[in-house]
Amino acid sequence: MFTTERGIEPFLSDSLKGAGKATPAPFSLKGRVLVEGISEESLLYTLYANPFYHRCYVVLGEAEIAGERGALREIYRFVFESGVVDFLSSSLSFAVSTTRKGRHPFTSEEVSAYVGAAVIDVCRAKKGFRPAVNLDEPHVLISADVVDRRFFFGIELVGYESMHKRRWHVFYHRAGLKTTLANALLALGGFGEGEVLLDAMCGGGTICIEAAHRCIKLPAAFFRKDEFIFLKSGLFTERWRCLVERVDSEVRWDNDCLIFASDRSVKSLEGARLNAKNALVFDKIKFFLSEAHRLPDEVKKRASLIVCNPPYGMRIGGLKRAKESLFSLFALFAGSKAKSLTFIHPDGDMVEELVHSFGFDVDKRMEAYNGNVRAYLFKLLKS
Ligand SMILES: C[S@@+](CC[C@H](N)C(=O)[O-])C[C@H]1O[C@@H](n2cnc3c(N)ncnc32)[C@H](O)[C@@H]1O
Repeated sequence: MFTTERGIEPFLSDSLKGAGKATPAPFSLKGRVLVEGISEESLLYTLYANPFYHRCYVVLGEAEIAGERGALREIYRFVFESGVVDFLSSSLSFAVSTTRKGRHPFTSEEVSAYVGAAVIDVCRAKKGFRPAVNLDEPHVLISADVVDRRFFFGIELVGYESMHKRRWHVFYHRAGLKTTLANALLALGGFGEGEVLLDAMCGGGTICIEAAHRCIKLPAAFFRKDEFIFLKSGLFTERWRCLVERVDSEVRWDNDCLIFASDRSVKSLEGARLNAKNALVFDKIKFFLSEAHRLPDEVKKRASLIVCNPPYGMRIGGLKRAKESLFSLFALFAGSKAKSLTFIHPDGDMVEELVHSFGFDVDKRMEAYNGNVRAYLFKLLKS
């Protein structure tokens, strides 16, 4: 079970084609993609290289539960009777992390407590030891999902920290985009070989840096390959080492990529440069300090795709400036040779109004969440 940002499950699911039977949002579980029949090799490859997921657990069980407090006893029994005991030993500590969505007469903490009690009891009953609980740095993390009447649980492979944190950031833009959403925008925009990318509101450089990593085939987990929690309990260790070595040897450091990054803020642009250096792709990105619609002709002529994360203007007094930024972006697109403009924005009405006045076509519009903010991914074409 892979987790990701709500709304971008289709991108994750598409990227898993061939690895197994991928179902986006199974049982209406938003932000989840269930993959059945995936081989160990494909699973490890996905964990290392895939840029769209946040966390992942190996499903040990799935059940329908009651809508009352009695569901906690069902969950306890279900976990007790599962194969969880095989993943624990007297030298391994564990913790439980629960995500709960829907209305229930119990809390996520209670679910974690019942799952935890079942794990302890089954280890005592079947193997004669009491596993230690370590909530901060467990060797084994058990993930549980309770969504309405459905309960899933399994062994977490990533750990507590979502993979959208790539570890290359040294500068954090205050409105930075998650790397997974940046990848969804790049996929929607059709970024690939031969395309020249422009992010004219690059902030800390997330979209351009992720694009550069795609261009040189750098695995998404390159900077955190030693952090996966499964390594702590000795799972897959040798296979992982071989896979990482093979995938790293296939990185094309010399690939030519043409990526333009610009922003009107000196501080953001400086931060983007620092991030790109730390992400090992400084030589792949050309930086410009500029208002979007005032970029030099060289950039306007050469960019084939524009992919952007303009300001949302969610703060007080911000809406007017957000509209001005969108206007600047649309004017850039109109005056450029780029064939499409792909971006994320929470104000669908504002976007549609401007699209109409510029005479662009909406090729795609998808709802997605940026944390708790509902937004839309748009792909525009020139008429
Ligand atoms: C939401 S932030 C981008 C964050 C970025 N995606 C990241 O992950 O760090 C929007 C950026 O657009 C820039 N911006 C807003 N209006 C602009 C304009 N008209 N021209 C150029 N940059 C603009 C702001 O300075 C800000 O850095």
